Amino acid sequence: MSKNVVVIGTQWGDEGKGKIVDLLTEDVAAVVRFQGGHNAGHTLVIEGNKTVLHLIPSGILHENIHCLIGNGVVISLQALIKEAKKLIESGIPVFDRLKISSGCPLILPSHEALDLAKEKKLGKSAIGTTGRGIGPVYEDKVARRVLRVSDLLNKDSLCEKLKNILNYHNFLLTNYFDENEQSLDKIFNQLLDQRDLILPLISDVSGILDDYHQQKKNILFEGAQGVFLDIDHGTYPYVTSSNTVSAAASIGSGVGPKRLDYIMGIVKAYTTRVGSGPFPTELHDKYGEHLGSVGVEFGATTGRPRRCGWLDALALKRSVLNSSISGFCLTKLDVLDGLEKIKICTEYKLHDKTISNFPLEISELNNCEPLYEEFEGWEDSTKGLKRFADMPLNAKKYVQAIEEMLHLPIDIISTGPDREHTIIRSNPFS
Ligand code: GDP
Ligand code: IMO
Ligand code: MG
Repeated sequence: MSKNVVVIGTQWGDEGKGKIVDLLTEDVAAVVRFQGGHNAGHTLVIEGNKTVLHLIPSGILHENIHCLIGNGVVISLQALIKEAKKLIESGIPVFDRLKISSGCPLILPSHEALDLAKEKKLGKSAIGTTGRGIGPVYEDKVARRVLRVSDLLNKDSLCEKLKNILNYHNFLLTNYFDENEQSLDKIFNQLLDQRDLILPLISDVSGILDDYHQQKKNILFEGAQGVFLDIDHGTYPYVTSSNTVSAAASIGSGVGPKRLDYIMGIVKAYTTRVGSGPFPTELHDKYGEHLGSVGVEFGATTGRPRRCGWLDALALKRSVLNSSISGFCLTKLDVLDGLEKIKICTEYKLHDKTISNFPLEISELNNCEPLYEEFEGWEDSTKGLKRFADMPLNAKKYVQAIEEMLHLPIDIISTGPDREHTIIRSNPFS
């Protein structure tokens, strides 16, 4: 029996999805990205060598694998080519492994300019975006004016469509945002240069995935960002502009939802968030400093320090609810080594009432006071452990407490950044 497994982040991103996707690629024929763009930063460490991927699926280091970019992903050709070239320099035959859906919207330099201009205008209320043009390109997709990968096929209509889009973008940039115009000629020539590398990669991703299914081969779906950055289900407006919940795997790849067999929710053993927006369990004390420094919590895309806090079981319950999580992978447990106490938020206090549902209204979230269950820490190191039996007793208790709170198994535990630093209790493909 073949299996389709979806990996998604259950918090605010950077849970360690890339590491786990690379690890699980061992068992699959194809890895597919289905939403987001190069706002993602997925880190893989193999025998000490670090690779950071933004657009290219995290299975790319494996031989005999197809890495697919589904229609739900927004593509900056400049970013894609830069990332591919870097991998090729280190010996990875990217263009033999990579295929791109003809339906992917293209991020243009003017989308990036609009992203930055919007943030500047928002001032103190800025979202804290990655500045990669993600919001503006998804806006254009919904408005039915975006260029798609398939538009590269016809130079004449490409020029015409680009002219119309740039007319609109330049009107906004100059009249509304008081910024400089973007050059049509420059962008058109860039697209023509990039086109030759991209045309051979254009494929029917949905069709390829169906072929693999017919051949009874496993497929892995790689989410970007995390559930609380979802445009519908996240902490709006402090979210990204795509759906990050598990259902996006279906829409963003062209595979029907009944074919998604197992949803693996990646949970960091504490919580982090980059950018603005509510974060009820955020810490500003020595514990927060420990998580940030020991966990090396700096954005893999923008290098910004990540905000750090305790694990939030209320938030995770909502992720389970809206993403049909089948089982968890708990990452960065080793970062908690040496703490005398560890907390998990189990309820919030809101206007003198105790609530046990994670509210999504910003005004409510901003007034929530987390109520915690406290756990004894452990002194021994868990770093690099490969067997659950070898873990300190209190670390085992912490893992079991999370399983009990969320009524789901933790199938994989990550104990360090390296592919090898992993405890597999149950393989989702078996
Ligand atoms: P992603 O966006 O979900 O793929 O996660 P990122 O790559 O942005 O951030 C996760 C960071 O934690 C990366 O630097 C990883 O190398 C690192 N990492 C992943 N798993 C572990 C772990 O179990 N322990 C430690 N210490 N680091 C980890
Ligand atoms: P991975 O896949 C963490 C955040 C940004 C900002 C908000 C909107 O590595 O987990 P955007 O540029 O998407 O319009 O920014 O979303 N954000 C992420 N935070 N990890 C990510 O990706 C993120 N991608 C976007 O910081 O708050
Ligand atoms: Mg990341």
